[in-house]
Amino acid sequence: MSISKIYTIDTVDMTLIKTNPPSLVICSSGRTATSGWKSPFLSKYIYVTPPEDGIQEFDFLADSPAPGTITIPVLTPIHGDTLLLDVDVANYWGEGMPLMGVRVHGVANAKLAGMKEEPSMPAPQQLAAGDIGNYQAMVPQALSFEADIKPKFRTRDVVCMKAVSGFDLHNFEDVKRKAEDINGTLKNKTMPKDGPWPDADIELFGKWIDGGMNP
Ligand code: HEM
Repeated sequence: MSISKIYTIDTVDMTLIKTNPPSLVICSSGRTATSGWKSPFLSKYIYVTPPEDGIQEFDFLADSPAPGTITIPVLTPIHGDTLLLDVDVANYWGEGMPLMGVRVHGVANAKLAGMKEEPSMPAPQQLAAGDIGNYQAMVPQALSFEADIKPKFRTRDVVCMKAVSGFDLHNFEDVKRKAEDINGTLKNKTMPKDGPWPDADIELFGKWIDGGMNP
C-alpha cells in the first residue's frame, strides 16, 4: 500500500468546539477513483510563511490499493476527519492573524469550509407519558441495536462524536446511556451536522428506545 491523494472532495465541515482551550473538528467526505482504499486521513500543510488568505490547507490522503490488487473502477465514497487541539482562532497564524477557514484537496478539486462557531443545541424534546403508551402499542416487533441502529451511524458520525463528546455511536452502552440526547438531536435535526436523517430512520430510533433499547 502507498499513501496517495483521493480523487475528489465532496464536503468539508469545520466546527470550533468551545472547550478551554478550544479545538477544531474537521470532517470531509470525498470519493476515490477505485474501490480498495483504506485508512483515510487529512494531512495538514506546514507553512514557512503564513498564507495571505489565512486558510489552512489539508490533503485528503488514504492508503491506495497495492499494485496487482483487483479493484473496481467506480467512484467510492470515503470519509476523513481530524481534530486540531488547542486552537487560538484569532491568532492562528501569529499575533493578530486569524484562521479564516480550511480547504481540503483531492486530485481533481478542493473544497473550502469557512469559520463558524459551535451552535447552541436546543434541549431535547420531552415526550408526555401518554405519548409513550400510545407509541408502544404501535410497535409490536423488537428492534435491536446491532441490527437496526448501529448501521445507521457512519464512520464520520462515530469519529466526530467521540472527538466532541467522548461517546461512541457504535457502542451499545454509550448509545443507551445517551439515547435521550441522541433522540433529541435527531428529532430536532441538529445532528448529524451535515444533514438530517430521513424521517423513517428518526422514527426507528424512537421506536428502539420505546421498545426497551435491546442490544
Ligand atoms: C447520527 C449522527 C450524530 C448524532 C446522533 C449526534 C449526536 C450528538 C449529540 C447527542 C450531541 C450533544 C452533545 C452531548 O450530549 O454530549 C452532539 C453534539 C455535537 N455534535 Fe453530533 N451527532 C452526530 C453526528 C455528528 C457529526 C457528523 C459531526 C461533525 C461533523 C458532529 C459534531 C457535533 C458537534 C460539534 C457537537 C457539539 C454541539 C454542536 O455543535 O451542536 N456530530 N451530537
